[in-house]
Amino acid sequence: MQINLNTKPFASLETDALVAYLFEDNAPVQGRIAELDKLAGGLLTRLAKSGELTGKNLEFTLVHAPAELKAARLLLVGAGKREQANPATLRKVAGAALRYLKARAVHKLAFLVRENDLTADAAQAITEGALTADFESDKYKTDKKNDKFIESLTIAGFADAEKDAAEKGIARGRTIADAQNFARDLVNEPSNKLTPRILADKAEAMAKEAGLSVEVLDEKKIADLKMGALLSVAQGSVEPPRMIVITYTPASPKPGAPVIGLVGKAVTFDTGGISIKPSDGMEKMKYDMAGGATMIGVMRALARLKPAVKVICVVPATENMPGGKAQKPGDIQTAMSGKTIEVLNTDAEGRLILADGIHYAKQLGATHLVDAATLTGAVVVALANINVGVFGSDQTWTDKLLASAKAAGEKMWQLPTDDEYREFIKGSFADIQNISSGKGGGAITGAMFLKEFSGDTPWIHLDIAGTAWNDDAKPWLAKGPTGVALRTLVHLVTSL
Ligand code: BES
Ligand code: MN
Ligand code: ZN
Repeated sequence: MQINLNTKPFASLETDALVAYLFEDNAPVQGRIAELDKLAGGLLTRLAKSGELTGKNLEFTLVHAPAELKAARLLLVGAGKREQANPATLRKVAGAALRYLKARAVHKLAFLVRENDLTADAAQAITEGALTADFESDKYKTDKKNDKFIESLTIAGFADAEKDAAEKGIARGRTIADAQNFARDLVNEPSNKLTPRILADKAEAMAKEAGLSVEVLDEKKIADLKMGALLSVAQGSVEPPRMIVITYTPASPKPGAPVIGLVGKAVTFDTGGISIKPSDGMEKMKYDMAGGATMIGVMRALARLKPAVKVICVVPATENMPGGKAQKPGDIQTAMSGKTIEVLNTDAEGRLILADGIHYAKQLGATHLVDAATLTGAVVVALANINVGVFGSDQTWTDKLLASAKAAGEKMWQLPTDDEYREFIKGSFADIQNISSGKGGGAITGAMFLKEFSGDTPWIHLDIAGTAWNDDAKPWLAKGPTGVALRTLVHLVTSL
């Protein structure tokens, strides 16, 4: 999809559809909405009076051939209450408008930015909203609906003086949305098309193209490094594991600057292992590599955005299978850090592979850690599919991430990591056990397990089990992978 900026008066834009948004409190009496009303011969006022046009969140009103507009259609999108509007509002409105028009076989649209929103951030959000909304999970469909596509989006409403800022916002938005869609593509791949080896190949190809350094550890190297926790999960599969390491180094690194370690869980399929999952819904466990895909996607964006800090991305990749060689409940494993782990449930495998991933990221020099993982069903109980579960060992570091989440328009909610929870994973026969002996708090005890391996290094864990996959399409996003947390992490790293 082409995205361009046009500073001409919006009435003169020739396009299939001009999109404008309005809030609940301002019927067509203000600013550009009033101008539009005038150009449409007072139609907006009449629609508002009759109750058809209210500005309610994601209400769509499509007007054909508005009198004095060059656009063939005018699409009015409700943006809800103005005081509740936040950085996510424009992103969603732009995305939902695009999907609404695409479904109606419209090919070219223009998005009119309101008089109070003329910032680079707005241009970025609209670009991100449009590009992520355009993504479809239809790679393996042979009967794609060829008349449903968006050719171009014109961002309108900016004056010539604001052009540079808007262009910058568009460029940044494109970089981030492309990375998010790249991650979503990886998540969509079924496990027969994306084994740990294939994931590593794709990550390597991306890194080389983007100018990042990359190293993929094979099963032999993983064994040499004594990554016993990762190996224990992989041993049940005929597919060998991989440890993917991608590094971004700034052109002039500042001495003493933080080094960020991004660790992502990539279980390319999670059957549960010997503690096997029920078959109902098991097909979704192809998305158990979403944390890894997110981190690889973040690196892709960072290669273009060139932050000032060094970033090391570590992605342990494996299948979790039952098999003759699979690990069994009660087995005791030694992680790379030397800690011994009693594996009471082979389905709590994400924390095992992350234990080695986190330890390795520290060994490579990370001073600040973030991991992302589809770690627990319990986080869905706690936060449903609305918020990412956030856990941290250092509140200053965690606060930075939460601020980035706000700025990037991603919902995240912090849960506790009090010492009391540590008791739940104390081992009977080894240092720790991989599931809790207590009742409840499953997302927290998963986090507590990871915390053991982060040691004194400021660490954040993002449990994206509930938010990495949309079971149903949203007006602004297709069904399937969401690419959640990528925008937040890009914001975090580029603001350091
Ligand atoms: N990959 C799952 C978690 C998950 C559940 C992701 C639902 C996405 C949707 C993880 O490996 C797992 O199986 N966790 C167990 C942990 C339990 C055995 C302590 C779970 O949540 O049931
Ligand atoms: Mn599992
Ligand atoms: Zn899993």
